[in-house]
Amino acid sequence: MGGTDQVRSTRRSPATTNGGDMWQNPEGAPKNLASDAIINLDHGDPTMYVPFWKSIGDKCTVVFKGYESLSYFSNPKNPCWFLEPKLEESIKRLHGAVGNAVTDGYSIVVGTGSSQLLQAVLYAVTSHDQANPINVVSAAPYYSSYPEIMDLVKSGLYKWGGDAHGFDKDEPYVELVTSPNNPNGVIRGAVVNRGGILVHDLAYYWPQYTPITSSLDFDVMLFTASKCTGHAGSRIGWALVKDQEVAKKMTKYMEVTTIGVSKESQLRVAKILQVVADGCKRFGSPDGDNFFEFGQKMMAKRWEILRETVKKTQMFTLPKFALQHCTYFGELTQAYPAFAWIKCKEGIEDCEKLFRGHKILTRSGRRFGSDPAFVRGSSLYIMRQHSGWSFISAGAPRNKGL
Ligand SMILES: Cc1ncc(COP(=O)(O)O)c(C=O)c1O
Repeated sequence: MGGTDQVRSTRRSPATTNGGDMWQNPEGAPKNLASDAIINLDHGDPTMYVPFWKSIGDKCTVVFKGYESLSYFSNPKNPCWFLEPKLEESIKRLHGAVGNAVTDGYSIVVGTGSSQLLQAVLYAVTSHDQANPINVVSAAPYYSSYPEIMDLVKSGLYKWGGDAHGFDKDEPYVELVTSPNNPNGVIRGAVVNRGGILVHDLAYYWPQYTPITSSLDFDVMLFTASKCTGHAGSRIGWALVKDQEVAKKMTKYMEVTTIGVSKESQLRVAKILQVVADGCKRFGSPDGDNFFEFGQKMMAKRWEILRETVKKTQMFTLPKFALQHCTYFGELTQAYPAFAWIKCKEGIEDCEKLFRGHKILTRSGRRFGSDPAFVRGSSLYIMRQHSGWSFISAGAPRNKGL
């Protein structure tokens, strides 16, 4: 699991967990944090949404009988024959309601997370009779899993080509455009601009993280339930693909690697997306059933605490985001990225080490093709009585916060 963004060696099993260290048991109920507890802001595990999903009761409960979902096939009429029709319908409905991506005229390919779809896209868009693997690039700071995903199996089709800013070869390439970007939350476009193949990773293009400014219509757009609704454990991602031939080849990749995608996961996520779509047009409802309103409020609170703390310590800087008109909320809104891209003040060369010294685990800028003076910290953990951000300031009490 070392290649994923979410799970790395810092995880301990609940059985070996120190009573105060609730970070290792994110779905449990956190109590006060012990003074020597390790705060793990390294992973992008979206457990902060648990309170919303608890609050809506049984609306998303899906029951499977023993005789159901046995077949490999979901819809033999669809070129993506393992895509559950209910999931396809929910995906289209949700994008329509939020207005963040066009689905008319697109093929939908479902994957075991968008991580698997990324590999399926690369299989589909690369030429199989090329002499050398094609370079896959992304502008630094880039999502730290990209290099690992590209080079894990030493594919003959593609290889990691590094920072797109430095790509000057006169040859075909694939550019991964992550927008909003992980780790720094910035809205981005392609940087190489020499006719390469573009893959847009839009995992965070949802209203709780960023103002929605238009309904995107790129050739290949990747989304994931992991970051949209927080259901990372269901492992469902989807690709909106303009070119039917590319979608067919992606389907072939999924067919050969995993013979499709779990039906239980698809049907669970179909239900969840349907519930989100049902509630997402009710703004300010007393029932509080608008998931994006809930998510945005929670993220805003976390960023407020973080910015206040950073101001007090005078040791770090944070990115600033301009207010923009969000077509979903119908007003000017701020970006509240899933991650904070924190820069240490001059003189501190290893920001990750500094945080580690205060028992806060973050991810070094080095892992994102950037400077070790930066770290990425996650805002997505469950934090009932506190936000990890309260503890950035050395000596801050560890049992106060949100
Ligand atoms: C930018 C980006 N793309 C893709 C993924 C992978 O998501 P999934 O859980 O769908 O594999 C992540 C997860 O952190 C991510 O940050």
